[in-house]
Amino acid sequence: MSQEHYTSTLTQQAGTYLPPLHGKASAWVCGNEEAEAIYMQALEKPEEFWEGRASQLLHWFKRWDKVLEADEERHKYRWFTGGKLNASFNCIDRHILIGRRNKAALIWQGEREMDVRCYTYQMLYTEVCRVAHALSSLRVRKGDRVALYMPMIPELVIAMLACARIGAIHTAIFSGYAEGGVRSRIQGAKAKIVITADAAVRAGKFKPLKANLDPILEKCPSVAHVVVVNHAELFDVKMMPNRDIWWHDLIEDFTLDVDFPCERMNSTDPLFLLHTSGSTGKPTGVLHSTGGYLTYAAHTTQWIFDMHDDDVHWCTADIGWITGHTYGVYGPLALGATVLMFEGVPTWPKPDRYWRIVEKFRVNILYTAPTVIRSLMRMGEAWAERYDLGTLRILGSVGEPISPEVWQWFYKNIGNSELPIVDTWWQTETGGAMIAPLPYATKLKPGSATKPLPGIDAAIMRDDSTPDLDGSADRRSGHLVIRKPWPGIMLGVYNDEEKYQSYFSRFGCYESGDGAEVDEDGYYWILGRIDDSINVSGHRLSTAEIEAVLVSCPEIAEAAVVPMPHALKGEAIYAYVVTRDEVAWSDTLRKKLLDTVRRDIGALASPEYIQFAEALPKTHSGKVIRRLLRKIAGGSSLEELGELTTVAHPEVIKPIIYGHQNILLGQHETASMEAEAAADGRG
Ligand code: PRX
Repeated sequence: MSQEHYTSTLTQQAGTYLPPLHGKASAWVCGNEEAEAIYMQALEKPEEFWEGRASQLLHWFKRWDKVLEADEERHKYRWFTGGKLNASFNCIDRHILIGRRNKAALIWQGEREMDVRCYTYQMLYTEVCRVAHALSSLRVRKGDRVALYMPMIPELVIAMLACARIGAIHTAIFSGYAEGGVRSRIQGAKAKIVITADAAVRAGKFKPLKANLDPILEKCPSVAHVVVVNHAELFDVKMMPNRDIWWHDLIEDFTLDVDFPCERMNSTDPLFLLHTSGSTGKPTGVLHSTGGYLTYAAHTTQWIFDMHDDDVHWCTADIGWITGHTYGVYGPLALGATVLMFEGVPTWPKPDRYWRIVEKFRVNILYTAPTVIRSLMRMGEAWAERYDLGTLRILGSVGEPISPEVWQWFYKNIGNSELPIVDTWWQTETGGAMIAPLPYATKLKPGSATKPLPGIDAAIMRDDSTPDLDGSADRRSGHLVIRKPWPGIMLGVYNDEEKYQSYFSRFGCYESGDGAEVDEDGYYWILGRIDDSINVSGHRLSTAEIEAVLVSCPEIAEAAVVPMPHALKGEAIYAYVVTRDEVAWSDTLRKKLLDTVRRDIGALASPEYIQFAEALPKTHSGKVIRRLLRKIAGGSSLEELGELTTVAHPEVIKPIIYGHQNILLGQHETASMEAEAAADGRG
């Protein structure tokens, strides 16, 4: 597809942007009329719609017997039952079989400018088969869990696809997680193998991974072997005999031309496990299916990004998160596109890094996060101006609401005031985007993720569990729910049925945990989490997990963690702590608490501020009233706190407000994490 077909100006009308008028003929969904027809078809005959997509987009070894088996009572949704397929086959072999073996599948830009690797589909096949053989020699079998604690290097994608080939379930752990975060995820998955690297390279520094893993593994008896990629060429990596193996030694024995036959997976077999923050201290292990997930990944990738197989697609999210799984690996590779993968951070060595990469590899689709855009915006547009960004055709945003101001900056300075921005709302549990525009059909409103995609039945529920259908005002607001199943819906929560059921218990359908408003045109405006999660730089963190770490310190009796607005991160973490009797409040203690959180969960969970308090506001039944703490952290005065009759001891509130004001005067700010936020904030 030539660029000229697409580069046409979005027309602005009263705060909305109409889709480009040219290029319709070549777009997957062309114009509003065609989109309306698709929405209608998906609404009237959902099963026909989804099976159409599954057969158009994927290769099935055996066709399904049933499109959807739904157990409405237990909220179990099984897609394409009886169908057989393999995700690795769909992402690699299929493209080779149709003559695309020499096409670039994966281009990797290392942190150092000179470090570039490119894998054609044939090369990817060879490496994935070798690693599948190697894992198989370590007795990895279908259904086994393989943990991937790796930096953004090609071996991560190769390992994922090798697991998929065998039918093993991969579970990626973001390399920014530290001890507790990694341990709970490996233990939760009962992983048999961990694949890691000697170190990650970040903003010119080495961050050891293998050394970090060693003490953790003492408490993970399920792990039989650790495979280590020699990435940073550290000299002092300790390898435990009989357990640890270098990646290069392991694959050396496997010759280049030996196929590893793909396991014929049931559509309903799990493809991967990925942990997200839960409402307790324990992360939630979200399990995704092979057939439903892959269909949904390929389907949304094709339509939201209008992806064609000659596109260079760059999803800047780390593969340790769901965005990297769906739009950095499975979706684009299933469609036979070229994926760009970048090891580094947007601002290092200079804030022009992203634009340099776009120009260098002629990137067509750039999918990133508001936190990244905010940090680059702050550095000024001059960094982008000196590069040729003319190959870009679609811009995307994910992870948190993008404010109209940031949207406009992205649109004007990166999109040259002519590219559609697809703001995509979704979650780890949904597998792929749920509310998002179709770039050549949907009118855009900056700040809104627009409308639910075809086949997605989103709704707004009131607190009393009734749908807010008409609403007395123009805008309806409440809990965002999804009423009908879709192929990307999670298969379950690993080893935690109760947690899975909790998503459905309140409204009888899938509860997202987000609040949203719908305007008079049916456009969705996401308001953020309603539960106790915090969205820091587009990363969902559990307040309970951070509180558990704080109270694990012997000095701390109680802790309450709430979000506070933050210019760069979107939301930052604000912690209130009550010390035990006799424990003095000090900056040393504050530092200790901060270090504990960093060591246990990772830098991304570090509180921006830690405030000591005599007591926390509680209800008469003893429940901490987070609503008040959240307001105080956001700067509300006593008068602005509203109704206080539910507070058991309202006298505790005033000192907390004073304490907060002192903190804002800069007396007690914890170490600034801005650079790290920018580095980690990749969706
Ligand atoms: O609050 C929403 C926010 O991110 C949450 C999901 O986090 P996670 O499972 O880590 O997945 C992130 C990437 C898909 C949601 O509940 N969120 C995600 N995308 C958007 C968003 N909020 C507003 N607008 C978005 N486009």
